[in-house]
Amino acid sequence: MMQQRPPLILIIDDEESIRDGCRQSLEKSGYSVLGAADGGEGIQIAREAKPDIALIDLKMPGISGMEIIEILSRDLPDLVLIMITGYATIVSAVEAIQKGTYDYLPKPFSPDQLRTVVRRAIEHRSLKIETRCLREEKERMEKSFITFVSHEMRSPLVVIRQYIEALKAIAGDRFDKEAEEIMERCRCRVQGLETMIEHWLDISKLGEGAFVGKKRLDLLQTIRRSTEEMAPLCMANGLVLETDLPEKLPEILGDAESLLRVFTNIIGNATKYTPEDGRISISAKSDDYHVTVRISDTGAGIPADKLPFIFEPFYRVRGKEERQRGSGLGLTFCKRIMELHGGEINASSVEGQGSTFLLKFPTQNIVLRTE
Ligand SMILES: Nc1ncnc2c1ncn2[C@@H]1O[C@H](COP(=O)(O)OP(=O)(O)OP(=O)(O)O)[C@@H](O)[C@H]1O
Ligand SMILES: [Mg+2]
Repeated sequence: MMQQRPPLILIIDDEESIRDGCRQSLEKSGYSVLGAADGGEGIQIAREAKPDIALIDLKMPGISGMEIIEILSRDLPDLVLIMITGYATIVSAVEAIQKGTYDYLPKPFSPDQLRTVVRRAIEHRSLKIETRCLREEKERMEKSFITFVSHEMRSPLVVIRQYIEALKAIAGDRFDKEAEEIMERCRCRVQGLETMIEHWLDISKLGEGAFVGKKRLDLLQTIRRSTEEMAPLCMANGLVLETDLPEKLPEILGDAESLLRVFTNIIGNATKYTPEDGRISISAKSDDYHVTVRISDTGAGIPADKLPFIFEPFYRVRGKEERQRGSGLGLTFCKRIMELHGGEINASSVEGQGSTFLLKFPTQNIVLRTE
């Protein structure tokens, strides 16, 4: 990155000779230099002049070098700090590095040593700023991509699906069976794309902190709602949906609608990947700290070597069940929601025998993260 002005270096040291010596050798190399004789003055100058680099003596009367480092690294994240130390013990060096110092100069140091350390710090600063700009640019692009997807892609898809549905209604029995089937396949595919985009947008919004549900809730109600919602699909697929729930569960803190979608997603998967005459079982239990919900099926199962990846975005197990449509985002959504509840989701499976998903929610000391 191009520097608009010569790099500005601030030297905070109570010894005038050090300040003058540094100033001379740095100015010779084309840097601008400011000096401060104590911490208070140094912090004030740093805040006003916004230097690129600050050299800070660790041992000074008044505000200690360590305190200055703490304050400046918090207030001015782009400022690169170098400590000057006359007693470069490992302990103080480690502490200063932990507090945000980039490098150190042990006293006494030569002009060459000083220039080398400052040059390295300038390079480090440029990289740091470049990284931040790239990160911000990436975030901006992601945001505009989300907007693009939601407006430019989802809306036409909804319209296409509605046209297909209208066409089917208008045609009535004028379509023969083959044409009817083709139209239905089109409708299914478009619907699939729509669902995928919705899932993806949900996940992106979660990344932006869109989820802020902090209500006390009874998971039993949410589980019951999900089974009511999924019962017709289970019946249509020839599956038994059974529950084994306690009378009462401790309340958790959470967002009922998101959790409803977590349960329906997992039950939905069970219906997709369990052949006819199978069984889907939902149970829940609690101890002093957790509520655990268990959703298991007697379906195809997931091979052990694929199990670690099923929560990854867009991951789908390839195999005989591939005929089932999906985007591979359902479980990613579930995992993010569980994390936002301070909870966990885990899967276990025996291939050919079935899969079990365990969802664990904290019941106390709940802190909802919204980032
Ligand atoms: N109950 C299950 N039994 C067997 N395989 C499963 C089960 N649940 C998930 N899987 C496997 O994990 C993969 C990821 O599941 P996920 O719900 O994320 O995606 P999907 O169901 O393929 O698509 P969608 O985004 O529409 O939910 C699935 O493609 C499937 O291979
Ligand atoms: Mg799914």
